[in-house]
Amino acid sequence: MAVYLITGIGGFIGSSLARELLRRGEQVRGVDNFSTGRRENLSQILGQIDFREADILDLDAMNRACTGVDYVLHQAAIPSVPKSVLDPIASNQANVDGTVNVLVAARDARVKRVVYAASSSAYGDTPTLPKHERMTPDPISPYAVAKLASERYMISFYRCYGLETVALRYFNIFGPRQDPSSPYSGVLAKFITLMLSGQPPTMFGDGEQSRDFTYIDNAVEANLLACKAPAAQVAGKVFNVATGRRVTLNETFKLLQALTSYSGSPIYGAERGGDIKHSLADISSAAEHLGYKPQVDFEDGLRRTVEWYKSCQLSAVSRQ
Ligand code: UD1
Repeated sequence: MAVYLITGIGGFIGSSLARELLRRGEQVRGVDNFSTGRRENLSQILGQIDFREADILDLDAMNRACTGVDYVLHQAAIPSVPKSVLDPIASNQANVDGTVNVLVAARDARVKRVVYAASSSAYGDTPTLPKHERMTPDPISPYAVAKLASERYMISFYRCYGLETVALRYFNIFGPRQDPSSPYSGVLAKFITLMLSGQPPTMFGDGEQSRDFTYIDNAVEANLLACKAPAAQVAGKVFNVATGRRVTLNETFKLLQALTSYSGSPIYGAERGGDIKHSLADISSAAEHLGYKPQVDFEDGLRRTVEWYKSCQLSAVSRQ
């Protein structure tokens, strides 16, 4: 049994990682300051994890959290492009300074490996599709710059201190427990919950932007593979985590109409600042070096996610 520290364990991805690790019989420690994570995400597992409410900007707390840990899964972040455009200082603090703290603490505690939640936004709007890891990054938003900077810190800590690090560039992860309630929430969480309650979603732009939407189980699997893959193949490296297929928002809306029984139309609004138009991953490097293969495709993931939000609505109704 290994000890895993998950930063941002209250988040949608962090809490999903925790659930799977517990299912596999591993020991889970977690930190969160609940700036974007949610206590409800941990309510069913709180008794099974070593949870510490802490901010990754608190180096002492990170030193304590890393003591005795084998693997760090660093998910804590302010994960929003538009929020970073509004407040680049806060984005930089959480997404860069926080990462350096986690790395210093992990190095000093001699953890075996740090796996980092990097972002496909690092690629920017370069016309080449699919995006592969050898391309020169060209981030647009402050968020994307911060995520790329942290990725480089991961590589730097491997080169300078020999701390094994792996950066996973997530491509639009979605699934149960993604928070739909903030204006900065991921598009699928917003669209599904609006459509289930009979309200029109808003497309920022013409809806022809596309994403390589990746179901949460695939991201969880990639993290666990990244912990165990041979260091010679993965340490100090960066991998796309995606499905290798893209869909437009307009196509997604049609699929969701069938799944949610929503018969209205979307609203079309202005494009969002800092956005990229198309995103699609080449996942061959993750396949080769991590043994990664997406287990759940987009349609199946969308169906499972809609079912989950429906079950939340039902339990909310039964509580009334
Ligand atoms: C997402 C992630 C980010 C991650 C990146 C790369 C979220 C909140 N952000 O950014 O953490 O690093 O992918 O994987 O998950 N849109 C609408 N209507 C809405 C909301 C969004 O049309 O109500 C559009 C946006 O303008 C954008 C697309 O949907 O074109 C996706 O937006 P969003 O879900 O916020 O994700 P990204 O910006 O791609």
